[in-house]
Amino acid sequence: MALTSRFTVRSLSSPTTSSLYRVNSQSLTYNDINRRRWDRRYWNQSTTNPTQNLNDYLFPWKLIAGAVAIGTFSYLYSYNAEAAEKKVDYNAVREDIKNLLDNEKYDDGSYGPVLIRLAWHAAGTYSKTDQKAPGGSDGATMRFEPESAHGANSGLNVARNLLEKVKNKHPEISYADLWSLSAVVAIEHMGGPKINWRPGRVDKTDGSHCTPNGRLPDADKGPDHIRDIFYRMGFNDREIVALIGAHAVGRCHPDRSGFSGPWTNSPTTFSNDFFEQLLNNTWTKKKWNGPEQYEDPTGKLMMLPADLALIKDPAFKKIVQEYAADEDKYFKDFALAFQKLEEAGVKALAKPWYQFW
Ligand code: HEM
Repeated sequence: MALTSRFTVRSLSSPTTSSLYRVNSQSLTYNDINRRRWDRRYWNQSTTNPTQNLNDYLFPWKLIAGAVAIGTFSYLYSYNAEAAEKKVDYNAVREDIKNLLDNEKYDDGSYGPVLIRLAWHAAGTYSKTDQKAPGGSDGATMRFEPESAHGANSGLNVARNLLEKVKNKHPEISYADLWSLSAVVAIEHMGGPKINWRPGRVDKTDGSHCTPNGRLPDADKGPDHIRDIFYRMGFNDREIVALIGAHAVGRCHPDRSGFSGPWTNSPTTFSNDFFEQLLNNTWTKKKWNGPEQYEDPTGKLMMLPADLALIKDPAFKKIVQEYAADEDKYFKDFALAFQKLEEAGVKALAKPWYQFW
């Protein structure tokens, strides 16, 4: 378009209105040039529909504004969902769990160990590869059959029933969060490490999400079985040893697992004592009518075949030695491994797709 092309103006003489100018190889007077300028302005204004021009200009902005509106709405919606979740007073829940723990009439004087076992058995069904039945602490599926009746969960009704009092008082917390939090509170209360705990687990409403029997480790098996089970959940050797060190607390019950006795002399204190006993005590097969288990010379302490696998396997044993020598290191590793166990497969706590760190 000639009128919109740029003028190349070169002065041929001194600038007066009658002087001649060279414009795109034509000789023009100053007035000619001005007229052309005027024409160009007039043409621009008269031939372009200003409304259409505005619409063209605004089109991408309308798209952007729409996207911003949708984004803001979803942000506000999720913010409200979060705010609703925040109605749970976790400090009050922690306090009520703590008040349930010590009880002279139960076992060695604390419900802590059985609460830890409940959380571990709820979470330890996790499979990182099974998309249909991933298991894990999300869902609290052990409230339903068949999971509640799986042999490995025998006796855990004690822990579930105990926590009903807290659930009744704080109905807004999910069972899944409550079970998980109660283990964390118990570990801390018994002198163990502080564990970074995050809520977000959502209860399933029936047993159709239960995992098949056999996801939890057998007590009468060796290192290969232990690795199969824990690798399926995504743990490595260090994390496996750290987690099983929780046997510093609690005991075996003949009417639950069939095994009998505690692992340490301080079964209500969370410590690295399980590793010290494994390494420094002498373990011989117990002569009795029950399943194969091992006892120390006093006959008071016990080890499962699966516990002894941790010193039979050279790679596991190195880690046992490290934890027996350094309780601080053990506590740090345990806290991280236990958080990982409790968060495995929890949808609300999963990293978003764009987070690679
Ligand atoms: C190879 C892995 C494991 C095996 C074979 C195993 C097996 C057992 C068995 C047979 C009992 C006795 C249950 C009873 O009679 O009441 C028990 C108790 C217990 N387990 Fe494990 N366990 C394993 C890993 C873990 C892990 C990873 C944790 C926690 C992070 C854990 C925490 C406990 C606690 C605290 C108790 C005591 C429960 C009570 O005193 O009522 N165990 N375990």
